[in-house]
Amino acid sequence: MIVGEMTRFAHEEIKPSIGSRILNTKEELLAGELGPQIRELLEQRGVLVFPKISFTDEEQIAFTKTLGEFAPEMRDGGEEKIHKITLDVKENPQSAEYLKGSLYWHIDGTMNEVPILASLLSCKVPATWGGNTGFCNTYAAYEALTDEQKAEYEKLRVIHSVWATVFYYEPEPSLAKIKGMQAIGENELPLVWNHKSGRKSLILGCTAHRVTNVEPAKSAEILVGLREWATRDEFSYSHEWSVGDLVIWDNTGTMHRAEKYDPECNRMMHRTKLQGEEPFE
Ligand code: OGA
Ligand code: MN
Repeated sequence: MIVGEMTRFAHEEIKPSIGSRILNTKEELLAGELGPQIRELLEQRGVLVFPKISFTDEEQIAFTKTLGEFAPEMRDGGEEKIHKITLDVKENPQSAEYLKGSLYWHIDGTMNEVPILASLLSCKVPATWGGNTGFCNTYAAYEALTDEQKAEYEKLRVIHSVWATVFYYEPEPSLAKIKGMQAIGENELPLVWNHKSGRKSLILGCTAHRVTNVEPAKSAEILVGLREWATRDEFSYSHEWSVGDLVIWDNTGTMHRAEKYDPECNRMMHRTKLQGEEPFE
């Protein structure tokens, strides 16, 4: 590289409404200079894929810090390290249970005032079958609604809860389990997120338990209907993992889910997160 010359940001679209592939080298990414441009593209495209970039854990942490503030995972005691995403209880005793909910469309951190800005997930061991990660663009899904729908949804508020997600994967849980999950609390959020940028996105996902002040059947019609709408093929992208791939998603403008895979297969992903910068409102 010639001294003083800017690194060219090299990327291409994956689908019209979601996803871009970044083609810069590991060295160019770690230099940090592209950080602001990557952040801007992330907001526009929802998901960025870095094919077979093969970061070590240290490199993934360093790269995360070129994009914003590193958000430690609480369960790891606040240290700057990667978090293992796997159903293997030997590798991840605390959260393997919790991860069962990640097979359903969700936004991370809906129990918090300020959700994380983004997650970076890298593939160490892909699943033997299934195990793609699906993403959908909730800005694009909002923008494609009719004016009438936008006006209706703008007024609605939704109760989010983790305990309600248990029923997605365990139809008859014990009371003790439900009470344990209820201790996490609930969070009332708007259905439409008015971002500082002036853009709007939908706040949905498996934690979206019920719309306030409407009958349960109407609430289900709204939440199921909008999930079906937001996850249509035109707004979504399913990433098939190869070893070494890194994917970043904008957690404030997308939903995501792990697609079904063999729970015994030792699929292993390493995750880092960026601290949220904007409350739900
Ligand atoms: C997550 C998540 C999906 C996956 O890390 O927050 O939902 O495919 N992961 O592992
Ligand atoms: Mn998640």
